[in-house]
Amino acid sequence: MSLKSDAQRWGSLAKFFHWTIVLLIIVQGVLGLYMVELPKKPSIIPYYNLHKSVGMIVLALAVLRLAWRAFDPRPAEPASTPHWQALGARAGHALLYGLLFAVPLSGWWFDSVTALRPMAFFGLFEIPHIAAPNPELKQLAHAAHEWGFWLLVLVACGHAAMAFVHQFVNRDGTLARMLPGRGGELATAPAVATSLKPASTLPENDHAESPSAAAIPAADPAARDPGA
Ligand code: HEM
Ligand code: HEM
Repeated sequence: MSLKSDAQRWGSLAKFFHWTIVLLIIVQGVLGLYMVELPKKPSIIPYYNLHKSVGMIVLALAVLRLAWRAFDPRPAEPASTPHWQALGARAGHALLYGLLFAVPLSGWWFDSVTALRPMAFFGLFEIPHIAAPNPELKQLAHAAHEWGFWLLVLVACGHAAMAFVHQFVNRDGTLARMLPGRGGELATAPAVATSLKPASTLPENDHAESPSAAAIPAADPAARDPGA
């Protein structure tokens, strides 16, 4: 399995970022919703510290993920994807990236304006505040964090639903090629290779310069992903 993505498959690092972040966001959502319901006693502090520390890891992973994406262009869209759908997917992914930053940053902002106590990363070192204490902004920061989270949940559910439609209705292997450990299998699966559009015709294809992408044959409507 290659670290880098190519015209047909996601690389293992892109997959690692995708699924680690998904997992941590689920943990963060559950922990966040649980901890705010607890009675306001000192015993809640470890939950808050854990939430803030894991949230900072999500933020760091989002930065690394986007930086890696600059060096690791995404694979081509399946040939069956209509133009409007490819544009919609692109907008949805951009929104997801935006929320990946907005949610932890708004949490950090909320923590800073309330400034109850310094934020300690897993008790190891202090993380500075990003804004001065300001009780007037507390409500706004809280709303941004809470509603940003619910918007992320909504967009991610739509995004996951589209991944399932691609995989099980269109049967173009979109989900399979993002799953961990399946890169090698898809590399040799002719059905997936032939279901990709030629690189030059794709609106959301960053491999247009790649000779291997340009060599991908046009769609075969009969082609089906055997892993689907
Ligand atoms: C992707 C990362 C994050 C997710 C998904 C997330 C999610 C949530 C959720 C769902 C809540 C409950 C909101 C409510 O119902 O009131 C919450 C609360 C909170 N979050 Fe986050 N959070 C993340 C990152 C962070 C970060 C990085 C910080 C701070 C550095 C932070 C600080 C807080 C605080 C202080 C609260 C409690 C708000 C209150 O006491 O009312 N969060 N978070
Ligand atoms: C918090 C939840 C999620 C976030 C923030 C997220 C974010 C993203 C982003 C930003 C991309 C685009 C990658 C790029 O172009 O660089 C992507 C791709 C993808 N995601 Fe997610 N995702 C989430 C959950 C899910 C879930 C639950 C599934 C499936 C059940 C899924 C399946 C996929 C697939 C299959 C792709 C590749 C699409 C393609 O090849 O065109 N994602 N995700």
